[in-house]
Amino acid sequence: MPKHIILDTDPGIDDSLAILLALASPEIVLDGISTIHGNASTAQVTRNALAILELAKAGNIPVYAGCELPLVQPSLLSPETHGDSGLGYAKLSEPLGRPQLKHGSDFLIERIMSSAEEVTLVAIGPLTNVAMAIRKEPRIVEKVKEVFIMGGAIRHQGNTTPLAEYNTFVDPHAAHIVFHSGMPMILTPLDVTYQCIFLKEDLDRLLKIDSPITKFIADATRFYMEFHDEYQKIDGCVINDPMTLALTFMPEICDYESLYVDVDISTGVGLGNTFADFYNYEKKKPNMKVALGVRPRMFMELFLERMEKLAESLSAR
Ligand code: BDR
Ligand code: CA
Repeated sequence: MPKHIILDTDPGIDDSLAILLALASPEIVLDGISTIHGNASTAQVTRNALAILELAKAGNIPVYAGCELPLVQPSLLSPETHGDSGLGYAKLSEPLGRPQLKHGSDFLIERIMSSAEEVTLVAIGPLTNVAMAIRKEPRIVEKVKEVFIMGGAIRHQGNTTPLAEYNTFVDPHAAHIVFHSGMPMILTPLDVTYQCIFLKEDLDRLLKIDSPITKFIADATRFYMEFHDEYQKIDGCVINDPMTLALTFMPEICDYESLYVDVDISTGVGLGNTFADFYNYEKKKPNMKVALGVRPRMFMELFLERMEKLAESLSAR
């Protein structure tokens, strides 16, 4: 039986690759998408989500626009990382579809509370919608099957400040609510995503297939690779979000530790920093499983094979 997934996302170059991976994976069914401010404004990432779904001939999947601002912090978009549109150099046609009327956080609540099946939530942007949903309807904590979160840097350095990863830095207060909610969480921090680099050779392999999907991946990741080269001296780019999505059906890509993890919401240099109590100083029960070891090529092979199949199947139609 495929897993029912709802995706909270800020597309975003690597978010768009996560959406494509979800569509390409028979192990899961993507029930709907809620969008969140982050890599670009909520209006922009909502357009992007609709356009990506339409590119992959999946315009029937509903998209719900979520929060436009973090809970407490001012907005922090990331045009230097994802481009002004959020999708690098990719130019997708204006989507024909429109977002649903319901708010993204209400969609999360409704889907988790009223679905006949167990629902898995995958959150790959700042956690504002998820925190709002918990505050509005605390019973989702017990009802949701599991929550996969891309965020944090446990032993790894930050990618937005020396100490903080982007999603937890942008809305640390939302991350604090979610981390302390009691939901069954699996965290994919930079510790594992930075081990998996999408290389120029990987892109060349995909480009052997002439398709709008491979062209999109090339145009989007070219920008992302330039960012990684200029800011972090990394050859290639780190595709955090599809890796998080992949763990929902191929958990063996990573090794996990159950840990008590918190996020810094004080107003100093550590804002948004995530830290694990490895030695159990606090005597608190673990609140999540954290991916800390990874088999990078296992993930990359999966990602490349699925993108090839998706590109081929859509070109054949
Ligand atoms: C996270 O921040 C965003 O730039 C990416 O989409 C990813 O979700 C990585 O820190
Ligand atoms: Ca993201």
